[in-house]
Amino acid sequence: MWHLVTILAVVSVAHGGQELGFKQDWWESALIYQIYTRSFLDTDGDGVGDIRGIISRLEYLKELNVDAICLSPIYKSPQIDFGFDVSDFYSVHSDYGSNEEFEELVREAQKLNIKVLLDFVPNHTSNESDWFQKAVGRDEYYFDWYVWAEGYLDNVGHRRPPNNWISMFKKSAWEFVPNRGQYYLHQFAKNQPDLNYRNPVVVDEMKNIIKFWLEKGVAGMKMSAVNHLLEVDKDSFGGRFPDEPKTGKVGLDGDDYKYLNHIYTKDLKESYDMVSQFREVFDSITLRDNMTRLLLTEASTTNIKNLVKYYGEGNNFGSQIPVNFALMEDFRKESDARDLKFVVDRWMTYKPANKPANWMSGNHDKARVASRLRPGLVDAFNMLVLLLPGVAMTYMGEEIGMPNGDVSWAQTKDQLACNTDDPINYVAVTRDGSRTPYQWNSERTAGFTKGHETWLPVGDSYETINAESQHSAAQSHYLVYRSLSLLRKRPAFRAGRFESQALTRDVFAFKRWYQDDTYVVVMNLGRSLNVVNLTTFDLVFGQLEVEASSALSSRSINDNVNANSLDLAADEALVLRMMV
Ligand code: GLC
Repeated sequence: MWHLVTILAVVSVAHGGQELGFKQDWWESALIYQIYTRSFLDTDGDGVGDIRGIISRLEYLKELNVDAICLSPIYKSPQIDFGFDVSDFYSVHSDYGSNEEFEELVREAQKLNIKVLLDFVPNHTSNESDWFQKAVGRDEYYFDWYVWAEGYLDNVGHRRPPNNWISMFKKSAWEFVPNRGQYYLHQFAKNQPDLNYRNPVVVDEMKNIIKFWLEKGVAGMKMSAVNHLLEVDKDSFGGRFPDEPKTGKVGLDGDDYKYLNHIYTKDLKESYDMVSQFREVFDSITLRDNMTRLLLTEASTTNIKNLVKYYGEGNNFGSQIPVNFALMEDFRKESDARDLKFVVDRWMTYKPANKPANWMSGNHDKARVASRLRPGLVDAFNMLVLLLPGVAMTYMGEEIGMPNGDVSWAQTKDQLACNTDDPINYVAVTRDGSRTPYQWNSERTAGFTKGHETWLPVGDSYETINAESQHSAAQSHYLVYRSLSLLRKRPAFRAGRFESQALTRDVFAFKRWYQDDTYVVVMNLGRSLNVVNLTTFDLVFGQLEVEASSALSSRSINDNVNANSLDLAADEALVLRMMV
């Protein structure tokens, strides 16, 4: 089905005739593809994606020149938060397959030189985990594995939680357990009790789990919610966890996470120290077999200084990649080219000069570009993610411009949406739309399963937007993506210098150059024709050649354009190379 041979032939001429003058480690300019396992491909007909499905599509990923795949959590889990509520970190969830099948995936991917990364969930477990059940039963060993606290009785005799802390999933972050007679902390859903990282036994166990997977040849891990790992030490506050201050933001009710300023539960210095300890485990495995283990950290925080601290400083080793949410969070429907320049330059400015940047335009928590922004911007955003300096991360489906699927209230599975108890307004928060099955072809269920049911409905767009039709079309998002994935192998994109400009309110452009090989990537984010002058980039020659163009552009590869007057249709995006 996927014609690997032709693609490999193209790769050999794709380096623009230049080699990098220095060595780069495998991850430093890697293209990482995030797979939401549950929704990628189902091979056993139960309507849920599985590891065999990934194995059977490795060649598809190779064609996209993916260096590594990162799988959303595959561990055993009651699936309340779809794998982010782990009940056994050592086993693959049976819906997805077995540990043996996972090992087979690592081996098969290795044959194609694709590395396998895992999402890891260090902050909490499922309340159905053995550890938690034992802690509830006051088992001596597990007694302090979670964050427990006493409530109090108010003046009318009602039991109240220990303090005012609020969960990311709304309402109190404390849940009472009658059997134990105490409250436990959950910064996410109540089925996700927070682990107690002040207990060294817990820290050791989490390190053992990391080793367990990395020793299987896993090339790295993306750790979510690392800035929530530790809360303040209650002993420093007379044995009681202190209330968090209110933000004073208007229009929020007391159940809303943003109602409080999370000074005692988020971004604590000890959480950075914990990441550094994890990094030491990664590096110890790297030393053994010489394959760098990659640590990616996800910390949702609005403070960029807190975020880039995860790159490490001083004695703190940090992670190689603090995941950059900026293209996803800070560029919105109403944003223009100036906003984009600001968002891109901000990361380049704050990140340490000697560390690679990283870019992504979507993940399993956010609407894809076609829905969050508009379908016309799909190629432009893939150009940004793949051609800006550093590591590129693509959420499955972005390469074909998949829009979000529609999921009715009755079909809703996401706990965040269910917690709203609101059959109308759940649409504002639901994450189900970006998790509907991957659209492989125009057959029933979009080729996702041979079974009759799918765990979430297939998006309505599958008959026109699917991988197979885009593979054989004359022009498509898929073909644009594939040409970008080849271009990014050239030295100018892997290691070249970078400069950005907002040429007009609508047109964003950036230049990448390495020695005498110079490119300008230019995109019209507006709704009307713009004429721009690219000579402000200080180009030695005024003629440029088209290397890639957005699917609806009237320009083709090898067309020539003049730098001093370039007309760009609405949504048109081009990769241009300076002719010498
Ligand atoms: C991460 C995941 C999100 C999950 C949360 C709680 O932020 O991306 O999907 O709900 O962790 O585990």
